[in-house]
Amino acid sequence: MSKDHNNLYLYLISLVLFAGCGFYHSKIAEPSQAEIKARSASYSKICESVIYPNCVSCHNQAQASGGVILDTYAAVKANLGEVENDALIEKTMPPKGPLSSGDQKILRSWITRGAPQYEVSAPDPNAPVPSPTPALQLKATYASIRELVLVPKCLNCHGVGGKAYAKVPFENYEQLMKGNTIRKGDPENSTFYSQMELGKMPTKKSGLAKVSPADLQIISQWISIGASP
Ligand code: HEC
Ligand code: HEC
Repeated sequence: MSKDHNNLYLYLISLVLFAGCGFYHSKIAEPSQAEIKARSASYSKICESVIYPNCVSCHNQAQASGGVILDTYAAVKANLGEVENDALIEKTMPPKGPLSSGDQKILRSWITRGAPQYEVSAPDPNAPVPSPTPALQLKATYASIRELVLVPKCLNCHGVGGKAYAKVPFENYEQLMKGNTIRKGDPENSTFYSQMELGKMPTKKSGLAKVSPADLQIISQWISIGASP
């Protein structure tokens, strides 16, 4: 072997040794948040929160105590009967003493549900019932249109300080009526309405959603009946 080859050989051996240590070490260390995240595609949430912190330090590829590996979802699933027996029934695992009662509860309920890998988070039965807040319904009045259409969709440009304020100000009722964008009784010839109906306002660039057909109908009605304040 030439000297170059010898060096290469040594280099390769050291790489393998080095990688081996790193691998072994990372199996024993507490998983970082990033690692848990990276694993979550192949490891269930319950494995992450109960099995990983309590069992994997002794049951991994490098150290398979009792011949049992628990560092992937598939491995936990394959040993589920024994896991249940040792951690929940005989409570011989982990050796230093049983899992906390909270962890036992979580694990038991997970096994009862068939130990799914992916879980749809069930609603918490103890969570306070959110009081229903029905979406506010637009009414054919200036106040309602201002609150539900002008404020969220127009005034960042047509209100004080907005880029369209100088030429087309909509900050209050008087301003809105002073311009020529609204013809009382004639929505089709009111640019205030037609710009929204054509989908030109709010501008596409703003990223704001168009005014809904239902709301357009109510705005049209408000103009038809006189666009009163
Ligand atoms: C500190 C190291 C350690 C931890 C932590 C640990 N085990 Fe073990 N486990 C062992 C050893 C050592 C054995 C093999 C000796 C024995 O059977 O008592 C073993 C054996 C097992 C076996 C096979 C038992 C059998 O009946 O042959 C299962 C299943 C198991 N462990 C599950 C778990 C589970 C589940 C956890 C976490 C809740 C866990 N272990 C945590 C060290 C550990
Ligand atoms: C992202 C900014 C932006 C938003 C949001 C916006 N506009 Fe405009 N609008 C403009 C600009 C800019 C002009 C042109 C002003 C000018 O001529 O200087 C304009 C012009 C108009 C005009 C006059 C059009 C014409 O041809 O005469 C009307 C009417 C109008 N907007 C209505 C609305 C309504 C109603 C809303 C809300 C539903 C809205 N705009 C939301 C920027 C905006």
